[in-house]
Amino acid sequence: MTSTSTAKTRLVQHREQFPALANKIYFNYGGQGPMPQKALDIISQAQTHIQHIGPFSTEVGNWIDQEKQATREVIASELHVPASTITFTENVTVGCNIGFWGIEWRAGDHLLLSDCEHPGVIATTQEIARRFAVEVSTCPLIATLNEGDPVKAIAQHLRPNTRLVVLSHVLWNTGQVLPLDKIVEICRNNNSLLLIDAAQSVGALPLNLTELGVDFYAFTGHKWLCGPAGVGGLYVRPEARESLQPTFIGLRGITVNSAAQPVNWHPDGRRYEVSTSDFTLYAGLKEAIAVHHQWGTPQERYEQILCNSDYLWRGLTALPGVKCLRTSPPESGIVSFQLAQNLHQSHVKLVQLLESQGLLLRTIANPNCIRATVHYLTLESEIDQLLEAIAKLF
Ligand SMILES: Cc1ncc(COP(=O)(O)O)c(C=O)c1O
Repeated sequence: MTSTSTAKTRLVQHREQFPALANKIYFNYGGQGPMPQKALDIISQAQTHIQHIGPFSTEVGNWIDQEKQATREVIASELHVPASTITFTENVTVGCNIGFWGIEWRAGDHLLLSDCEHPGVIATTQEIARRFAVEVSTCPLIATLNEGDPVKAIAQHLRPNTRLVVLSHVLWNTGQVLPLDKIVEICRNNNSLLLIDAAQSVGALPLNLTELGVDFYAFTGHKWLCGPAGVGGLYVRPEARESLQPTFIGLRGITVNSAAQPVNWHPDGRRYEVSTSDFTLYAGLKEAIAVHHQWGTPQERYEQILCNSDYLWRGLTALPGVKCLRTSPPESGIVSFQLAQNLHQSHVKLVQLLESQGLLLRTIANPNCIRATVHYLTLESEIDQLLEAIAKLF
């Protein structure tokens, strides 16, 4: 057996751990990742265990504390940060909201976001603007996908009163990866905080947030990490913690005295956590991350994602009726494309047609396109099947 065929056999065997991949051809990893069976099992075992020894007891409390700490450490190690910097949330949006609302806004402050942010994030900035008389403006990054410099575009839109810059690490619509190291530098020089929507980067890119130096980095476990829906997190740079006040407040975020009175915030990321959650999901996320490590390091997984997105991008580029948004190979697992007849209707129809054939993709409204996302789990043969299905249209 050649080393390539050994690697393929190994991946095919590894994929058998993901039941969702057995009966469809999946290109929606950026929407939600398929869960490994081990993660599904551990959640159900943990639920049973909690009922067996509790559900409310000292032993359950100890179990929850251990699971929380172990999962926090696993996440922190993925991001190369101390575990104390991690706050558990439910999803990306909650993490972003902790960042948005925790800043003590002053009337006349400026908030800058890009033209590629998620609707939930845009809506929050609009409410911040209304409630605190904050000026919100948008810098154009879609236009920098194939030419131009996103850092320059952001720099041109910074103002002396820019309090916060909000950007996605990987743009969910075009797949562009923003050079965060350079962006951190221009934000620091401008005394602006930087909040990153990491929906499409955690689990997809190798990350070292300590080196990057971003202030707030909001992520989820249910997309590229293939964990259960309902567990995400927020990294807050230790130096930025004191400038970010907790907004939603509860027992998990505070220390209490012997008379059950609140004394202080927890000194670390726990201060933004609120109250009871489904802690069995934390065990599920930890297990999902362990399954990825069986296959390869974050760097190896990213390289495989790039091999797959390059293969898909080349195949789509070669099809006469198809135009990829990118004119060069992708930097992430997101491959967005348009049909030559660029009508929204035709994109929706194609996605529906493909879904009826067991191939799952999605449309994106801005820019109007179809988005296919490939993981390290994606097989070349799946990409071939997608290309064949699209080629049949023309
Ligand atoms: C860039 C981006 N931000 C935010 C979200 C919302 O994520 P969540 O459902 O984890 O809040 C998504 C989900 O698709 C996304 O792609």
